[in-house]
Amino acid sequence: MTSEMLYALRDPAGVPSHPLLFLVLGVVTFALHIAAVHIMLGASALTLRGAMSTQANWRRLAAAMLTTAKIAVSVAIVLGVAPLLFVQVIYDPFWYTSNVLSAWWVIGFIVALIGGYLAMYRFYWGNPDLARDGGRGAPWMIVSVALLLLVGFIVHSLSNQMLYPEAWMQWYAPNGSIDPSGRSLHEWNLARFGFFITLAAPVTGAWLLAYRRYLIGAAETDVAYLAWLRALALRLALAGGAVAALMGGVWMATLPTKMAWFATSPWTALAAAALLAMAALPLSMGQRLERGYWGYGVLGLNVVALLAIGAAREALRYATLLGTHGYDALDYRIQMDWYSTVLFFITFATVGGVTLGYLLTVAWQAGQHRDGVYTPGPRVTALGQWSVRLLVLWTLAYFGIGLWVWLR
Ligand code: HEM
Repeated sequence: MTSEMLYALRDPAGVPSHPLLFLVLGVVTFALHIAAVHIMLGASALTLRGAMSTQANWRRLAAAMLTTAKIAVSVAIVLGVAPLLFVQVIYDPFWYTSNVLSAWWVIGFIVALIGGYLAMYRFYWGNPDLARDGGRGAPWMIVSVALLLLVGFIVHSLSNQMLYPEAWMQWYAPNGSIDPSGRSLHEWNLARFGFFITLAAPVTGAWLLAYRRYLIGAAETDVAYLAWLRALALRLALAGGAVAALMGGVWMATLPTKMAWFATSPWTALAAAALLAMAALPLSMGQRLERGYWGYGVLGLNVVALLAIGAAREALRYATLLGTHGYDALDYRIQMDWYSTVLFFITFATVGGVTLGYLLTVAWQAGQHRDGVYTPGPRVTALGQWSVRLLVLWTLAYFGIGLWVWLR
């Protein structure tokens, strides 16, 4: 596959803003997506472990983590769409070819995702009070985790196949005879996949510290539970960080020749430093975890570390496609469209910021409230009213401009 052929696969319409913007947004949203995936997987695993336990602490944690996991699946899906949009804009020749070569799996991805989510709900419906009664129907939760992992594996394989244009023809027409079925996944690296999956342990450790801090804020009286949570979180961070480091090491050792430079590049050093921080930070916090907002801070710092790891992952793709295949994702033809660019950021900041801010504030305050029924104060109510107004304004602007362009 020559670089001319790769360029010919590009969208001739160009991109509506500088490609660097899409590249950066791709990295940022990937970090957020993978953080949600980690919390989803970690919370599911803790649910499974805790629900089958006879210990009160484990069962209480299982009940809380099942609620977390249910929400984290939807957050992971929503935050998965964002990097999907960005990757297909600047890497379209690679992303679409990889998808078409494994089309059966791309559709199967959705079926597996629905199945995984339904199985989790089946477990939830079968266990109205996990903390009191313990869990029944563990196979549902096992099926759920397995299907969600399958979903991740499919995306991993699609992302990997992008990096091997030299193999596409052989995959499409093995030994010269065309196979248009799309039934095979052709390329994967279990160590790379394992690396991104095992990062779930330190991130879940950080999530537990945030959950613990939230309980402290709500005047939790069960100090034994708080101490137990802390020990579990630190164990997860340390042991999970070590396993992820091992996986990362195997990934680097098994890189193909054309990507071997990456193992000794500053990008890998950056990712290794980020991983070290994820594993060691909670341990180094000591008593600070009991004070102020440090309990939440660890989770925030984990997301920053994921940003660094996401940037390294992107550097591997960008440099491989440029260096070996002569494709520069940053020289995409720009067809500057200020309206859509500005609308994107305004939507993000106003509609997204205000609506999400309102929902999170209400959920937060309701959870911290102890006596009687929670009623939001005037400022929070005003935020809620503004989020509805902004949504109406946004919808009017969106369809209004569309109609104006159409009728003009
Ligand atoms: C719910 C289960 C999911 C899991 C366990 C999962 C896991 C992962 C993992 C491990 C990666 C990194 C792969 C690699 O670089 O080797 C990844 C990347 C990605 N995922 Fe997910 N994911 C899930 C759901 C989704 C969904 C529902 C979407 C889309 C709606 C999505 C979109 C993406 C995208 C776009 C990337 C980056 C692709 C790229 O930059 O090449 N994921 N995911």
